[in-house]
Amino acid sequence: MQIIDGKQTAADVRLEVKQEVEALRIRTGKIPGLAILIVGENPASKIYVRSKVKSCEEVGIYGINDELPADISESALLERIAYWNAREDIDGILVQLPLPPHIDEKKVIDAIELTKDVDGFKPENLGLLFLGDKDSLKSCTPLGVLELLKRYRIPIAGKNAVIVGRSNIVGKPMAGLLITESATVTVCNSHTKNLGAVTAGADILVAAMGKAKFIKGDMVKEGAVVIDVGINRGAEGLCGDVDFAEVAPKTSFITPVPGGVGPMTVAMLMKNTLHAFRINKKII
Ligand code: GUN
Repeated sequence: MQIIDGKQTAADVRLEVKQEVEALRIRTGKIPGLAILIVGENPASKIYVRSKVKSCEEVGIYGINDELPADISESALLERIAYWNAREDIDGILVQLPLPPHIDEKKVIDAIELTKDVDGFKPENLGLLFLGDKDSLKSCTPLGVLELLKRYRIPIAGKNAVIVGRSNIVGKPMAGLLITESATVTVCNSHTKNLGAVTAGADILVAAMGKAKFIKGDMVKEGAVVIDVGINRGAEGLCGDVDFAEVAPKTSFITPVPGGVGPMTVAMLMKNTLHAFRINKKII
């Protein structure tokens, strides 16, 4: 069994982004810019946003944390997005989710310029992902999972990949990416019959349903690759959707929580912002 080191891999990715940002700065006199919008005071969201801003500083991206009050009107938030859309020095716009209930998430995502959608949440970007488009902006967490599989030289083509969870942010784009990599993909949800039997058929198992330690040893095949996307905050601190102690001994590769997929999400956001910079500034 080998533990996949997401913390180190994310540091490797950030270093590569930093070097590329610096090379492009010398060539063009410009650097990528990322506006991160946060509405209200959700403590978990604040922690995520802080780590995104810190990452920007590390890699040489101009990162702005646009903190907005919890009671901001939907129209004022849409105006704010229009403002960042118009700013030429801003290549990426990220609106941290979840939003307060009086704001329509769909309208907000629709308002973001297609080429600045560094979260890859817009319908057109998710559609392009499913079409196997190489250059579209793609959701950071699934992209981070794929990056881990590739950097650990884990074969994907022809493998049975099972994803537990069908969210728009993780499960669905993860399925699209793995289909493009020629895996045979099954996406499970809370209605799936005999879930344990389905997951036990997985060569690659991606747990992304947000239930602490839900995946047990008897649900995993001997030698499987297990990727844990879950971040659950409990009494004992952070834990994933996989019962690591039970599952790890059966696997060939497994990601820990923390230190697995989590740091990769932010690293891929940096990579996406650099990619958006190239698109917006037409740099080949
Ligand atoms: N909330 C939880 N995950 C994400 C993410 O990847 N992007 C944004 N914008 N909000 C989130």
